[in-house]
Amino acid sequence: VPVALSDGRAYEVAIGPGAIPSVLSTLPALLGRAPARAFLIVDSGVPAALHARVTAALESLGTRVTFETLAPTEPAKSLDTHARLLGALAATGAGRDEPVIALGGGIVGDLAGFVAASYRRGVPVVQCPTTLLSMVDASVGGKTGVNLSVQTDSGARLLKNMAGAFHQPIAVAADTTALASLPPRVFAAGLAECVKHALLSAGLGTDPGLLSWTETRADLLDTRDDAALAELIARNVAVKAAVVAGDERELAPSAEGGRALLNLGHTFAHAIETLPGLSPVAADPSLAPLQHGEAVAIGLVAACATAAEMGLASADLESRVATLLARLGLPVRVAGLPGDDALLDAMRHDKKVLSGTLRLVLPVGPGACRVVEDPPLSAVRAGWDAVRQR
Ligand SMILES: NC(=O)c1ccc[n+]([C@@H]2O[C@H](COP(=O)([O-])OP(=O)(O)OC[C@H]3O[C@@H](n4cnc5c(N)ncnc54)[C@H](O)[C@@H]3O)[C@@H](O)[C@H]2O)c1
Repeated sequence: VPVALSDGRAYEVAIGPGAIPSVLSTLPALLGRAPARAFLIVDSGVPAALHARVTAALESLGTRVTFETLAPTEPAKSLDTHARLLGALAATGAGRDEPVIALGGGIVGDLAGFVAASYRRGVPVVQCPTTLLSMVDASVGGKTGVNLSVQTDSGARLLKNMAGAFHQPIAVAADTTALASLPPRVFAAGLAECVKHALLSAGLGTDPGLLSWTETRADLLDTRDDAALAELIARNVAVKAAVVAGDERELAPSAEGGRALLNLGHTFAHAIETLPGLSPVAADPSLAPLQHGEAVAIGLVAACATAAEMGLASADLESRVATLLARLGLPVRVAGLPGDDALLDAMRHDKKVLSGTLRLVLPVGPGACRVVEDPPLSAVRAGWDAVRQR
């Protein structure tokens, strides 16, 4: 799938079994010659056999590989880790044309991308995403960065993705063989972002049938059928690529939506994903807290319900989306939510809220969304009501 940017820049996302060795074999063509060295940043969750295949593919080009392994957590997605990786890269003496290779989920991809953006003011990066979320979302579009930890009156707070750079990869390799080892909750998190894309695609003019297609393939996707997954990734990368092509640096005015549309469901999700006591299965508190993708699934239902209350979308859309998410193994209601006022307050603190005004992406029909400034609070409360398990 091509990602076309302004001023003629472009790169390709290769998708399918064997995409990683295949993309790495094109490095000499992409860089003008085989790199003497490559700096590989590996997610500790990636199976050793895949790591070994990447090393072998690079070494077959005559490239010397140095690697650093990273156990990906949000607190470790930090300036400290960035500095450690930059130091390790500098110690190899790498030049400006020697690539950084990211092999891992979104955390490793964001960090490796930021290392590549900042080392010698920018060296090439190849993204080899190994989670479904990083294949359909994080590895495409050039956003890189780390979280910042700041002291506030209420204690230390992690501000997500607060420091970083736009730095597009030279290629992305979404190798579907990597998905076999993903834990179920990590896999489902990627499916939540796919449903988000399906709720946007028709409005972007990219893939009007994506929501229906996802519905008809839900059982195959849930069981990780190879062909269904490869098609899912290709269609979702095309949606992300369309958004990025239109608004690479998230500068589009809110009326046009642009990259901000990708925030669908996320303002709701951010309000609940850090709450320690919420479990995706009410009967099993040991599964708390919610993972990001689970919070996004709940956020998508809340956004649909808010839109229905405002008369922007039909109530049918909410039940359609909730049914699809549940079939994909995602929660659509949650027990133990705080009261509406606390939730509204948390939404107002979301970093994407501009100057204190609540700004939500809401569906306006199956497959189309728009940005709504200052929605009526009664409608947002109705959104929360729809996902509150009593
Ligand atoms: N740059 C962007 O545009 C963008 C977009 C969306 C999300 N993100 C970022 O992505 C991050 C989330 O990414 P994620 O959902 O991939 O989570 P993650 O990077 O935290 O990875 C999730 C878990 O999967 C494990 N893992 C990775 N690959 C594996 C494999 N093949 N087999 C088994 N386990 C494996 C990891 O070790 C980790 O434990 C967040 O930090 C988010 O901010 C960035």
